[in-house]
Amino acid sequence: MINNLGNTMFDNKTILITGGTGSFGKKYVKTLLERYNPKKIIIFSRDELKQFEMQQEFNQPCMRYFIGDVRDKDRLRRAMRGVNYVIHAAALKQVPAAEYNPMECIKTNINGAENVIDAALDNDVEKVIALSTDKAANPINLYGATKLASDKLFVAANNIAGGNRTTFSVVRYGNVVCSRGSVVPIFQKFIEQGQDHIPITHEEMTRFWISLQQGVDFVLTNFERMLGGEIFVPKIPSIRITDLAKAMAPDLPVKIIGIRPGEKLHEIMCPSDLCFDTYEFDDHFVIAPGIKFSSRCNDFDTNALNEQGKKVEVGFEYNSLSNPHFLTIEEIDAFNIQALI
Ligand SMILES: NC(=O)c1ccc[n+]([C@@H]2O[C@H](COP(=O)([O-])OP(=O)(O)OC[C@H]3O[C@@H](n4cnc5c(N)ncnc54)[C@H](OP(=O)(O)O)[C@@H]3O)[C@@H](O)[C@H]2O)c1
Repeated sequence: MINNLGNTMFDNKTILITGGTGSFGKKYVKTLLERYNPKKIIIFSRDELKQFEMQQEFNQPCMRYFIGDVRDKDRLRRAMRGVNYVIHAAALKQVPAAEYNPMECIKTNINGAENVIDAALDNDVEKVIALSTDKAANPINLYGATKLASDKLFVAANNIAGGNRTTFSVVRYGNVVCSRGSVVPIFQKFIEQGQDHIPITHEEMTRFWISLQQGVDFVLTNFERMLGGEIFVPKIPSIRITDLAKAMAPDLPVKIIGIRPGEKLHEIMCPSDLCFDTYEFDDHFVIAPGIKFSSRCNDFDTNALNEQGKKVEVGFEYNSLSNPHFLTIEEIDAFNIQALI
């Protein structure tokens, strides 16, 4: 991953983060404050308690806290006044909750995306990056399907921008190690409870593996790379879930409990059907828009940092199983999971 030390892109800028009290948002704010001198950082989310708790940790003069729901366009419009950059991280993201409450997930993840786009255009925001997930590639669950719809909205938004300067891109990555609801805290709970096994849904399951800091760094860099319309995908390692269990609890046997509704055996980040639009760069892929923009850049083999990519081979798929880079048990161990929990 490229790090951003030494550049000044976010100095004296106003940055709004929807879902800023979440795992990603807090790490993003911490990193911005460590590396830059932003004019203002606006946290936009619903729950006052999470904001109150975040204020205890981040109370610098540049911090602003807005209670608001991305379903509420007027509130977003107000919050985005004078904003230069937006990171759209707010989402409902628990797969089972989305299956049971589909309209709630649609309202937040799809209608919310539309509202973010409209508010950004109305306020002439310079750049917007929306966070996506591997579950949005060839989705089989509603969460993934809503994130795919959201991705499509952000890509197409570059075409409705007209004379407006706002550019929109998407960053897609896989499971964030130790994020809320992910497998690591679940295994950890079993270990702490002194259970006699680790539950695994399927012994062949693989997942992509990225740390929160790597995700944050990738988003920061893509603000510099983006032309508008790209889906940025980082090159990251895969893990076998059985290896993760062995790394976390070497002495405990695993128990196979069966694949859950909406769960895939392997995740995809760049589907093979999009190979004709996919470019490979040194440390990432770019899925270029399937549509042509009428008054925007349509060439995605060179980015705004002048990095060169090349088209992937016909049929190429970036998949957690076929990924050439797998972590060994020792490498997972070296990741120091305990420090991240
Ligand atoms: N974690 C992962 O493994 C992973 C992997 C790939 C992609 N992503 C994507 O990364 C993004 C951030 O994930 P995360 O792990 O930081 O999630 P998180 O910890 O669950 O945080 C979600 C944030 O969104 C806010 N939010 C939820 N509904 C909202 C609404 N209607 N209006 C305004 N704010 C709302 C939440 O605060 P309130 O509840 O207070 O509103 C919270 O601040 C999501 O878009 C997710 O799809 C995550």
